[in-house]
Amino acid sequence: MEKRHFAISDIKISSRAKKYVNEALSNNRLSYGPFTKKFERQLADSHERKYAMVVNSGTSGLQVALHALKEMGGWKDGDEILVPAITFIATSNVILHNNLTPVFVDVESDNYCIDPEKIEEKITSKTRAIMPVHLFGQSADMEKICKIAKKYKLKILEDACETMFVPYKGKPVGSMGDVSVFSTYIAHIVVTGVGGVVMTDDLKLATMIKSLMFHGRDNIYLNMEDDDTNNKSKLKSLIERRFQFIHVGYSYRITEMESALGLAEIENKDELIKKRQKVGRKMTKMLSEYSEFFQLPIEREGGEHIYMLYPVVIKDKRIKRDDLLLFLEEKGIETRLFFPLLSQPIYKKIFGPIEKNYPISKRLVERGFIIGCHPFLKDEDLKFLKDTFTDYLKNRGLI
Ligand SMILES: Cc1ncc(COP(=O)(O)O)c(C=O)c1O
Repeated sequence: MEKRHFAISDIKISSRAKKYVNEALSNNRLSYGPFTKKFERQLADSHERKYAMVVNSGTSGLQVALHALKEMGGWKDGDEILVPAITFIATSNVILHNNLTPVFVDVESDNYCIDPEKIEEKITSKTRAIMPVHLFGQSADMEKICKIAKKYKLKILEDACETMFVPYKGKPVGSMGDVSVFSTYIAHIVVTGVGGVVMTDDLKLATMIKSLMFHGRDNIYLNMEDDDTNNKSKLKSLIERRFQFIHVGYSYRITEMESALGLAEIENKDELIKKRQKVGRKMTKMLSEYSEFFQLPIEREGGEHIYMLYPVVIKDKRIKRDDLLLFLEEKGIETRLFFPLLSQPIYKKIFGPIEKNYPISKRLVERGFIIGCHPFLKDEDLKFLKDTFTDYLKNRGLI
């Protein structure tokens, strides 16, 4: 059988993106400028949010969002944040960076997001927030999560690093919590190379986040241009406040070139969403012939999937995960593990052997894996994927 490179992700820089990056360079302005402003506006509008602030990574976005929630809420070191037991490690790392305590919650066996039915049993007098993760391209069950947060007066910080645009119960993903964070790292939905976005409807929160990402500078900058102002009283105030620092902040900005790339992508978002969904749904249709062996992604009721990645869970006990992954990789199909978190060496060192307390996550990590799903996959790539699965099952005498 032929070998073909079936990558986890792919990228093609469009002519619009090249034009915008060249324009950014011609403008002789690389820090916050017109491209970033436009990119932020379109990000906010497409997620029905008032404010969007671009930062240099999803992790930086989560860091400043949590820092702002902690400082504004008067939370103490050691206070608890609920987080799913399966996610990319950055989600829970930022809780540790903020001197808070991650409290893990098991995940749903079919959608792989935090299980709302298991949240309440983890709430204590120290719980301050829930951090749902919209994993692989699909929203967590925000309706139930929001109800619980309201009941216990908890904040919601949505980790939407893997998901953008798609609706859940009529609202765009990342529009329901107090604050939400997206990543624009390669392989994500909108790609700027490295980058992230923080969104909120709360002016006070937005102002503090903006300050934190600018070294903790005076928050005047959310409402006023960095320089070029002709208004005398504004200018006077600007001169006074330009070099005042009111928080212990970070340096998390991006350049106009990244925003130019992002703007070109978001202007083409309808096409981008359509293509991703077409590929993802086609993959499921083709592989569903083997649904007795594999659990494939499903689209949550009332929601849609944007298939940032394509998770597969092995159902048949005769199939050894590592044997299958080696077979796929040898044929050219890239694979990734199913975001093992609690079994990471550093987490075992910090939290001890707690993985056994999360049976669904443990099974998914042991029996699941991820393959790519992106807009550039063609019908012949999908046929190759299906044929490789067929080959494997035949080879091991399962069909
Ligand atoms: C769920 C999740 N959270 C956070 C991040 C961190 O994003 P970044 O790599 O942009 O820092 C990622 C990145 O892949 C992610 O998948």
